[in-house]
Amino acid sequence: MLSLVVLISGGGSNLRALLETASHGDFPARVVAVGADREAAGLAHAEEFGIPSFTVPVASHPDRDEWGAELLATLNAWQPDLLVLSGLMRLLPPAVVRAYSPRILNTHPAYLPEFPGAHGVRDALAAGAQQTGASVILVDEGVDTGPVLAQERVPILPRDTEATLHERIKPVERRLLAGVIAGIATGTIRPEEHQRA
Ligand code: GAR
Repeated sequence: MLSLVVLISGGGSNLRALLETASHGDFPARVVAVGADREAAGLAHAEEFGIPSFTVPVASHPDRDEWGAELLATLNAWQPDLLVLSGLMRLLPPAVVRAYSPRILNTHPAYLPEFPGAHGVRDALAAGAQQTGASVILVDEGVDTGPVLAQERVPILPRDTEATLHERIKPVERRLLAGVIAGIATGTIRPEEHQRA
């Protein structure tokens, strides 16, 4: 059974889906804590599921390295097997990446390496693309540059707005993420083998 800590910044709808999935006895992973870099609305999902939560506000740490050190110490207290970034809209501090890589997953609402960054859905629409996608990657120190573990195409429809397209991508992200976590738990996906030298 894998233990997970999930990090969020926002509403946490994908977190909620993961909490639901992980609450089923046959899923081989459990969320042991949920953390955020701000007072994220999504922390309420953790409370509802009876999962402890924490906030390490980046705003109260002007020095990025100090924020990284506090986040790392907080994460270490939970001793997670895997860190899952689920809408964490901030680059993970290098100290955390070094400590946990290759056991850090991130979901992204585009078919990486297409449209990395904070506005993957908006950027795909602005580019006039006919399709985009969802990806689950291993986190490295770059912006959405880590190895892709799973991804799937999602068509862009003529009347799509950023909101409608994002709402169609999210269920794909949730399914891919659950599959990758289960794959790591059962040994069919080995993060170490995907890590770049
Ligand atoms: C998700 O689409 C996630 O992939 C994205 O934020 C959304 C969070 O939604 N993350 C990124 O764009 C990271 N670059 P949620 O708060 O409803 O789960």
